[in-house]
This record gives sequence, C-alpha cells and structure tokens, in this order.
Amino acid sequence: MRLSTTIATALSMTGGLGLAQSTGPSNLNEALPYWVNGLVPLAYTLQDERLKEQVSTVVDTVLDRIQPDGWIGPETVAGGQRMIWARTLIFLGLTNLADANATYEKPIVDALHRFNGLMNSMLKNNGTGMVYQSGDKLSADDFVWFQARSEDMIVSLQWLLDYHPGNQTNLLKQNIEMIYKYASKWEGWYTEENYVSQDLYDVPASVTDDQWPFLHGVTVAEGLKYAAVMRRSTSNESLLTTAKNGVDWTFKYHGSASGTILADERLAGLNPYYGSELCTDVEVIYSLAYNFYAIGDSDYADRAELAAFNALPAAVSGDWWSHQYMTEPNQPFSKNLSATPFWNVNTLGQTFGVEPDYPCCTVNHPQGYPKFAMYSYVRNGDTGIVHSLLSPGRVQTEIQGKIVSVDCQTDYPFDNTLSYTVDSDVPFQLYLRVPNWATQTKIQGSPRDDSAPKDPKTGLIKLNLPAGTTKFSYQLGMDLITADRANDTVAVYRGPLLYALHIPHTTSAEAPRFYNTQKDYPAGTYPDQAHDYALLNTTEWNVAIDPSTLEYHAGSGSLPEPTFTDGQLPMYMTARACLIDWPMFRGAVPDSPIPKSNRTCLSDIFEATLRPYGSAKLHMSDLPTINLTGK
Ligand SMILES: *[C@@H]1O[C@H](CO)[C@@H](O)[C@H](O)[C@H]1NC(C)=O
Ligand SMILES: *[C@@H]1O[C@H](CO)[C@@H](O)[C@H](O)[C@H]1NC(C)=O
Ligand SMILES: *[C@@H]1O[C@H](CO)[C@@H](O)[C@H](O)[C@H]1NC(C)=O
Ligand SMILES: *[C@@H]1O[C@H](CO)[C@@H](O)[C@H](O)[C@H]1NC(C)=O
Ligand SMILES: *[C@@H]1O[C@H](CO)[C@@H](O)[C@H](O)[C@H]1NC(C)=O
Ligand SMILES: *[C@@H]1O[C@H](CO)[C@@H](O)[C@H](O)[C@H]1NC(C)=O
Ligand SMILES: *[C@@H]1O[C@H](CO)[C@@H](O)[C@H](O)[C@H]1NC(C)=O
Ligand SMILES: *[C@@H]1O[C@H](CO)[C@@H](O)[C@H](O)[C@H]1NC(C)=O
Ligand SMILES: *[C@@H]1O[C@H](CO)[C@@H](O)[C@H](O)[C@H]1NC(C)=O
Repeated sequence: MRLSTTIATALSMTGGLGLAQSTGPSNLNEALPYWVNGLVPLAYTLQDERLKEQVSTVVDTVLDRIQPDGWIGPETVAGGQRMIWARTLIFLGLTNLADANATYEKPIVDALHRFNGLMNSMLKNNGTGMVYQSGDKLSADDFVWFQARSEDMIVSLQWLLDYHPGNQTNLLKQNIEMIYKYASKWEGWYTEENYVSQDLYDVPASVTDDQWPFLHGVTVAEGLKYAAVMRRSTSNESLLTTAKNGVDWTFKYHGSASGTILADERLAGLNPYYGSELCTDVEVIYSLAYNFYAIGDSDYADRAELAAFNALPAAVSGDWWSHQYMTEPNQPFSKNLSATPFWNVNTLGQTFGVEPDYPCCTVNHPQGYPKFAMYSYVRNGDTGIVHSLLSPGRVQTEIQGKIVSVDCQTDYPFDNTLSYTVDSDVPFQLYLRVPNWATQTKIQGSPRDDSAPKDPKTGLIKLNLPAGTTKFSYQLGMDLITADRANDTVAVYRGPLLYALHIPHTTSAEAPRFYNTQKDYPAGTYPDQAHDYALLNTTEWNVAIDPSTLEYHAGSGSLPEPTFTDGQLPMYMTARACLIDWPMFRGAVPDSPIPKSNRTCLSDIFEATLRPYGSAKLHMSDLPTINLTGK
C-alpha cells in the first residue's frame, strides 16, 4: 500500500488523532500506533526522507494533541474508559524516534514523563487502564490486551529508566512493578502443570475459555519476550527458564516449519492446514530478536532468522502490495474457500489482498523487517559489537567516543558468504554469530583470534580488530537438512531457508475489498497497485517425496528484484516424487496427509521442484514421505 494511503487509512481507523472514540473498523485504537511502531525504524534505517517526513507529521500531530493531564492519543474506548494498551505500540515508535533523531528527544521524553505521572495515578487506583471487563466473565467487548501484552510497555519504561530517568527513577520503577503485578503471568502459564501442549481442538472449551489471553496467537508471539523483558527489569533469573520453556513449547506443539506459530486466531496444533497470522509472524521476529539481545542464547537468533526469511516473505507478495492475513504450511491455492478451516478466520483470510481479514495485519506487518534490521547489530559490553541477525547491512556507531562502522555485504540467506569491511578509529571486538545449523565456519582475510572459539551458549565468535580498515569474509557451511513433522511428513531446509514444493498458479486480480463487508473499495479511492487476488494451482499438489533423493541446485544468475517474487529465486531442490491419495478437510483445503503405510503411487514417478518457501506463495511445506527405492 502506498504509504500516504496507509496514513489516511490509519487515521480513519483511529477516528482521527487525539480525538474521541474510534469510528473506524477497530475499536482498539491500534492502527496508527502500529503504523508508528513500524515506520520509525523503517524510515530511519533506510534514511528515507519521504518516510521521515511522514513520521514527523504524525508524531508532531500526536504530541500537539496531548491532553491537559498528559494522556496521549484518543481519549476513551471501552465503557468510556481510558485503556493503556494502544499507547504501548506508539511508545515503541516514539522511543526509537528519540534515539534516531535528536530533535525529538526532549519533546518525546517530556511527553513520556508526563504520561508516566498520569499512568502512576491510574495504576495506583486499582490498576485503572489495565483491563476493562464489562461483566463477571470475559466477553468479546472486554479489553484484556494491555494485561496480556504488558511487556512492550515495560520495554519503553526500561528505556526511560536507562537513558532518560529525569527525576522519575522511583516513579518509573513503581510503574513497572505495578504493571508487572497486574499483568497476565506468563511464568505461571509456561509450566508443566498449566501449559496446553495438546492440539487445542482436543481440549474442552471450559479449559480454553479461561486461558484466552495465553492462547491468542499474536498475544503469544508478543509474549515470547515477556520473560526476557521482565527479567531485565526485575532481575529474577528464574524468568530465563520461563523464556526458554515458552519458546521451546510454543514451537514444539504449535509451530510451523517456517518459524511462526500456528494459531488461527487461537493456538491450534500441528496440522498443516492450520494457519499463522501475518501479525504473529512479525511479532515472533521482534520477540525472538529481543530475546537474543537480552539473553544471548543463540537459539533465539536462529528462530528469529527462520521466521524472517520464511514465514514473513511467504505471506506477502513480491511487490509487497498485498498480503495474507493467514498462511497455511500446506496451501496449494489461495481463493475464497467454500468453508473456513480455521477457528476464527474468514474464508478470505488466506488470500493475498489489502485487508483480507482484520486490518491489524495491514498496519502491523511493516514492523517485521525494520525490527529485524534494528536488532541485527547490538552492543556487547563497552567495546564490542555483535552481528546478531545475519543479513546485509551497515552499522555506524561510537565506541569510547570514536567512530566505528561495520559493513556487511552478502546474499545471505541465499548464499553462505558474508563480506565485511570495517572502518574504526579504535580497536574493538566484533562478534559474529554462528547459527546452530552451520556445519563449519571459515574466516578469510583477517587474523582470526583462535584463542576465542565459538561460545557454546551465545554462538558468537570473537574477532579482535585493530583500528583502521579491515576486510574479511565469513563463510558458513550449509547442509541440506530434513526435519520430521506430524503425519509422517518432513520439512526440508538448507541453512536458514525452508524449501517447499512450489505450486505454479494463475493469478487473477480484483478490486480490494473491505474486510468486514467484503464490498469493493469504491473505484478511485485506492492506489492502482492495490488489488485482492485469487491464486489457482495449475498442477496437482497431492505429492509425496522420497527424501533420500533430495538434491540442492544453486542455479545461476543474481537474486531477482523483488527478491521474493514467486518462483524467481535461482536456487531450488529436486526430489523423486509421485501423486498420492490426499483427502480434503471440510471439502475446502488439503487435510493432514494419510499415514505412511497407506501411501501408494497414483501416478508415474516424476521430479518435484522445491523452492525457498518465501518465494513459493503456493506451497506444500509439510511433505509426506514415500520410499521410491527400486521404483
Ligand atoms: C529530525 O526531524 C526533523 C523534524 O522533522 C527533521 O527536520 C530532521 O531532518 C530530522 N533529523 C534527522 C537526522 O533525520
Ligand atoms: C479492581 O479491579 C478489579 C479488576 O478490574 C475489579 O474486579 C475490582 O472490583 C476493582 N476493585 C475496586 C475496589 O474497584
Ligand atoms: C521533575 O522534573 C520536572 C521537569 O523535568 C519538573 O517540572 C518537576 O517539578 C520535577 N519534579 C520534582 C518532584 O522534582
Ligand atoms: C522469581 O520468579 C519465580 C517464578 O515466578 C517466583 O517463584 C519467585 O518468587 C521469584 N523470585 C523473586 C525473588 O521474586
Ligand atoms: C466468499 O465465500 C463465502 C462462502 O464461502 C461467501 O459467503 C462470500 O460472499 C464470498 N465472498 C466473496 C467476496 O466472494
Ligand atoms: C496429523 O498430525 C496431527 C498433529 O499431530 C494430528 O492431530 C492429526 O490427527 C494427524 N492426522 C492424521 C490423519 O493422522
Ligand atoms: C488444483 O487443485 C484442485 C483442488 O484440489 C484439484 O482438484 C485440481 O485438479 C488442481 N488443478 C490442476 C490443474 O491440477
Ligand atoms: C489405511 O489403510 C488401512 C488398511 O487398508 C485402512 O483400514 C485405513 O482406514 C486406512 N487409513 C486411512 C487414514 O486411510
Ligand atoms: C526403502 O526401500 C528399500 C527397498 O525396499 C529398502 O532397502 C530401504 O531400506 C528403504 N528405505 C527406507 C528409508 O526405509
């Protein structure tokens, strides 16, 4: 979507800035805050003047309309009460802007201090603003978002404490303590007794109803960083176990091969027709990037890359003008379905469009790559820089008052070589992350400090670099790996990239529709590039592969532009394959594959082509296996 249009949409969704109750589709007042959260790091990472101007216009307007008592944003929502939650999102953008642009530091810090004074009196008044519950039991009209997603506010409060406490050190600590006191307790949820590891359809509603905040997909994705955030602010080391259990169990019991969470909208299980919301994908990336930054366990960084290089690009068209609300691991077509396979997502949710279902993903998905870029370089101690999330990018910063710049040029994750040029006025340590899948590492062109091998926990190699210019290349061994999935299927990887059976298709474009009425946007009210699409398979998709015959082909030619255009990346895999019987679920989408013992070839054997998942908009990633030896 063209960004000027995004602002207009976001403004209409929030009923205007700083004004009365929302009149748009979302009564959560979340649209503009989500937009600011993603656009600040996008504008300032790219140093894009056009985007920076848009950010300034919006932030100036928000700051101009602060209420006399310090409240920021639209006045009231549920039941005429002020709810804190949407502020959480805009504060993430504001704190980043204060860091990126000195002009904004004072106005933003002042506004946040005033707000904290107000929030302090609200929280002291029985936690006002945390939650709104209209009756004895939670209902759809109630607001639990801040209680369930408290961690993102703590990120901003901790930033104030660390860098701009002013005279509010005690007040900020009090606010953190009170929010923590009223917050949903993820440390109680991620325990053997309480966590639901089963498929949610196998659990009675009486159990799941009470646990809704812990089962909502996007909230779970955001909550993956709760323990890391709270540990940073409370120093309670037992939260490290909560963080690890939360991440491990979420992906073991409810994770897709592409690195995201299967939750449509509620956590689901492992069936390959369950879906993942685009908002969930980007929140997973941000949470896991934060966890590596705060905890230094390389597993989090591996998982952040997995979601960023697979789940996110698969859900967005190559030109980035359309997206899915919901992506299925096995999805051979993307059209208005005859029935929804999902718990609470409509029949259009898995199509590519402007807002194929709730508009939250339209406004929230732009944070994905900017947050990834933000966390790709982090500090370690006073004199260390860590390349934590591998990708092309350059950082310039100061160490002991001297300028240091690290520039990484690479086609990673599509290639295994990263080329660095470092310019520094001071000796310092550069730490390179070694992903857990890497079979070997090689550094050429710089004296490598062999006395400091890879740290087993952080996965970091330390290079002691002298002042001046240093150039070197860093190579990672990438092997083809298969991982077992449910129903005798495998997922196929090479390095951080998931490969899936690529389904060729026809594409038809229609006018974009409003998500709620499903009526077309009136002609002339949307940019020419905006469409809703139907993608129909032009081949059969009921394919089983013999994994022992998988072969990787590097292909030739450079990366396409845009990178994740369907089917255009040069690298691919092949495997011997045949068609098998594969029933439908609810007559609408492929069911989970039949047991391995029942699989027989219904066709001749052929060579199937697997492509990087992000460039296979129609795909089968949980692939049934079959033994074709001698056939
Ligand atoms: C900071 O924002 C101001 C106000 O929009 C703008 O004039 C200035 O160029 C920005 N500074 C940087 C470094 O981007
Ligand atoms: C405090 O808030 C809780 C939860 O919102 C509510 O149930 C309770 O009645 C409130 N207590 C008072 C004294 O207002
Ligand atoms: C805290 O600082 C603000 C200005 O930053 C000032 O207006 C206020 O009076 C100070 N409060 C106290 C209690 O010192
Ligand atoms: C730390 O958290 C654990 C688990 O939630 C809790 O049992 C323990 O009391 C906490 N410790 C402190 C010092 O607060
Ligand atoms: C999509 O299909 C559903 C039935 O599955 C139907 O009710 C709805 O009108 C269709 N929407 C569009 C835009 O075609
Ligand atoms: C496929 O695997 C899922 C997850 O384990 C399970 O719930 C489902 O029953 C399996 N389907 C079949 C047909 O075995
Ligand atoms: C596409 O998938 C549908 C639904 O399973 C199937 O009936 C059809 O044969 C496939 N199309 C082609 C051209 O193979
Ligand atoms: C698998 O094959 C067995 C034996 O033919 C049959 O009884 C069973 O129903 C089949 N199961 C499925 C899921 O197709
Ligand atoms: C596949 O079948 C062949 C021949 O029947 C057998 O030798 C081989 O062990 C089987 N491979 C696997 C992975 O089961």
